[in-house]
Amino acid sequence: MSTTPRNIEDLYGRARRRLPAMVADFLDGGALDELTLRRNRDDLDATLLAQRVLADISTRSTATTLLGTGLSVPLIVSPMGLLTLLHPDADVAIARASAEAGSIFIHSPWSGCSLRDVVAVAPGRVWAQIAFWKAAHETEQHIEQARAAGVDTLVIAGDVGISSKRERDMRHGTAMPPRPPFRDVVDVALHPGWLWRFATGRPLTLGSYLIDGRAIRMSEIGDWLHGNENPAATWADVEAVRRSWPGKLVVKGIMSPADARRAVDAGVDGVFVSNHGGRQFDDQQSTISALPGVVDAVDGRAEIIVDGGVRRGSDIAKALALGAHGVSAGRPFAYGLAAAGGQGVRHAFEILTGEFSTAMGMVGASSPADLTRDVLAVESPSSDRSAVVR
Ligand SMILES: Cc1cc2nc3c(=O)[nH]c(=O)nc-3n(C[C@H](O)[C@H](O)[C@H](O)COP(=O)(O)O)c2cc1C
Repeated sequence: MSTTPRNIEDLYGRARRRLPAMVADFLDGGALDELTLRRNRDDLDATLLAQRVLADISTRSTATTLLGTGLSVPLIVSPMGLLTLLHPDADVAIARASAEAGSIFIHSPWSGCSLRDVVAVAPGRVWAQIAFWKAAHETEQHIEQARAAGVDTLVIAGDVGISSKRERDMRHGTAMPPRPPFRDVVDVALHPGWLWRFATGRPLTLGSYLIDGRAIRMSEIGDWLHGNENPAATWADVEAVRRSWPGKLVVKGIMSPADARRAVDAGVDGVFVSNHGGRQFDDQQSTISALPGVVDAVDGRAEIIVDGGVRRGSDIAKALALGAHGVSAGRPFAYGLAAAGGQGVRHAFEILTGEFSTAMGMVGASSPADLTRDVLAVESPSSDRSAVVR
């Protein structure tokens, strides 16, 4: 990378320049009017921290533990499908960089890389997301893969029973298989670096699922996913996994206190507050505003992870102050990957960790455990948003 990126926005700019518009929009986009996507960011901006001074913050440590795994910073990488579109090293590069940063990468069932390949470069630092497919044996074989790979934590995708319109993707014709309009064909030709990497790199597949003993090909992905979407999944499926999976279990996509309580009753170890980065349901609240209600409902019976809109290290401090045990981010690491492969992911970790450490110091915190509701500013000039800071 020519110059060191200063912030996630820098990585974003570099990623956008390197990617054809249809791929950049697949990464950036949200459902419908992208209101939830923006709300995630707006509500983080409106959540304020209280400066404290003369608090001897000379020996700050950002280290913590999440679901039994030591982290050098309370920040992990959210599951993201089809990262192969961004860079051929895809999940493998993110997993390696995450492990080097003392963090964790969550492998997605929609990933182009197999779970086994990803765990191989970051043993002990990869969690496996599973989905409840219509063909139950596909879910079972995926759990078996996780077990065989030595994965200790499963993350259930709770919010994928149906999918929403992503109108940017519709405009670019990027359903599977893609049928891009002429202007996108031209735009792809104007990104020869991406085209070369895509044509010569890792083939676009669904890496963890097989047809006739080989990974599912690009031309087959659309039909396979369409045929396997499972709107009939319920908490009984979570309970069944709980009975057979001895490791840690997390459900992702929790946005209400009622579902948080249901998850805890089902025996999960972790509740993952997420609105899929605004990509699924566009008429709901931001994750940071949903967090306090979930924290109260869980009442210490499980650990809480939250993602959505994290672009500054101070966002991690805000989420921890509101009761999260760990914070996750998706696009910042994908921007890093698209901008510069594994090196870009390392930059994303360095940027967010450095900013988090500074934010800790500014509020007088020496460790993540010091980030309680006391470090939140109670009143802010935009008091219409003060409901976020409860
Ligand atoms: C390109 C892309 C692919 C995604 N794929 C998945 C997925 O496979 N499973 C999932 O649970 N969430 C998926 N998500 C949502 C992320 O896990 C995460 O919730 C979201 O990106 C967090 O918001 P942020 O990008 O603002 O950090 C995806 C997000 C993006 C940007």
